[in-house]
Amino acid sequence: MYKLIIKNVKLKGRNDLTNIFIKDKKIEKISEFNGEKAKKIIDADSKLTIPPFVDSHVHLDTALTAGEPKWNKSGTLFEGIERWAERKEMLSEKDVIARAKKALSWQIANGVLSVRTHVDICDPKLTALKAMFKVKQWASPYLNLQIVAFPQEGILSYNGGKELLEQSLKMGADVVGGIPHFEYTREYGVKSVKIIFDLAEKYNKLIDIHCDEIDDEQSRFVEVAAAEAIKRDMGKITTVSHTTAMHSYNGAYTSKLLRFCKKAGINFIANPLVNIHLQGRFDDYPKRRGITRVKEINKMGINLSFGHDDILDPWYPLGTGSMLQVAHMGAHITQMMGTEELKEIFKMITKNGAKTLNISNNYDVREGNDANLLILPADNQLDALRRQTAPKWVISRGNIVAENDPINTNVILENKKKQINFKK
Ligand code: FE2
Repeated sequence: MYKLIIKNVKLKGRNDLTNIFIKDKKIEKISEFNGEKAKKIIDADSKLTIPPFVDSHVHLDTALTAGEPKWNKSGTLFEGIERWAERKEMLSEKDVIARAKKALSWQIANGVLSVRTHVDICDPKLTALKAMFKVKQWASPYLNLQIVAFPQEGILSYNGGKELLEQSLKMGADVVGGIPHFEYTREYGVKSVKIIFDLAEKYNKLIDIHCDEIDDEQSRFVEVAAAEAIKRDMGKITTVSHTTAMHSYNGAYTSKLLRFCKKAGINFIANPLVNIHLQGRFDDYPKRRGITRVKEINKMGINLSFGHDDILDPWYPLGTGSMLQVAHMGAHITQMMGTEELKEIFKMITKNGAKTLNISNNYDVREGNDANLLILPADNQLDALRRQTAPKWVISRGNIVAENDPINTNVILENKKKQINFKK
């Protein structure tokens, strides 16, 4: 007896419909249906079946705090940091847990089953980090949650930053974070990157650095991270996030830098929703978009994924936890709108994110893998992206963890009511 059978599944790369048989939490087989029995049988009705969305970069400790105690009126990253400092005073474990669980439930409803969250550890009490460990425990039956120990105010510029970072890793954070461009000096920034790599080696952790999230073309810490990754052969586990300064680098330097990055094998993360909102704030017209060079990085075969970054917090007043919304914005601002390019965009919220999180070996909808998948009420990826379709079913470890009912939309024209679904 199977736990779940999903009939009439449309898998990428196959023209025929097939069926997925799930036992315990695994995909036992993908094959013809011959009247097998299961506790539950659902019909995908030939809709698109894909592995879950991955949010490779989000800040769950700050999520859902927008307007508390005050709104970020200027919309700048710097006022965001000021507003967050005020909200941080009010943090309690209970508060962080409640907000993070709510944001994760939105993400689960949107089909996101792997999440890497940064958690601000510039707090002698490590309140948010302790809370996030409890959230991880709560979430573990439903999704993969990776925790980055993120020194928001600097490793060397914040008093005791280095010690707090090391303590966070000892307590069980999965990933070492950093913010070299925010350190007081270039020298502190370079030193902080070395500390990050030392700690990752010492505690056997992954690395994800907020790197050059500024419009300053002089901010050049990606090269420092790439050089360390090459020297220590740690590229696969290393990620540089945001890297928005690269938007402003000159062509010759960027070309040299991307060759190093390719050699290092590091991963990139861009955050289209948030960076199109925060960057370019000091420009007169024309204003820079401030997103990193997504198209060029991807074309070079360097792994790049998208993150949501912020959900309803001091840095971003919108968001519902939908990676399709992220990809939609990403496709526009990177001008990756060709049909082949849109396929690449889709990878940035699925497969590429899994690679960044180092979970690729158990990610695809494949026999023997965990039964984690989405049934999207769409004909193909382009259709899903265009109509922003919420998954009909979200399946995690063989269990249905979210359902979205179809939205009924009617137009009343020429005295007639007609149902539409925005399909051609
Ligand atoms: Fe971020």
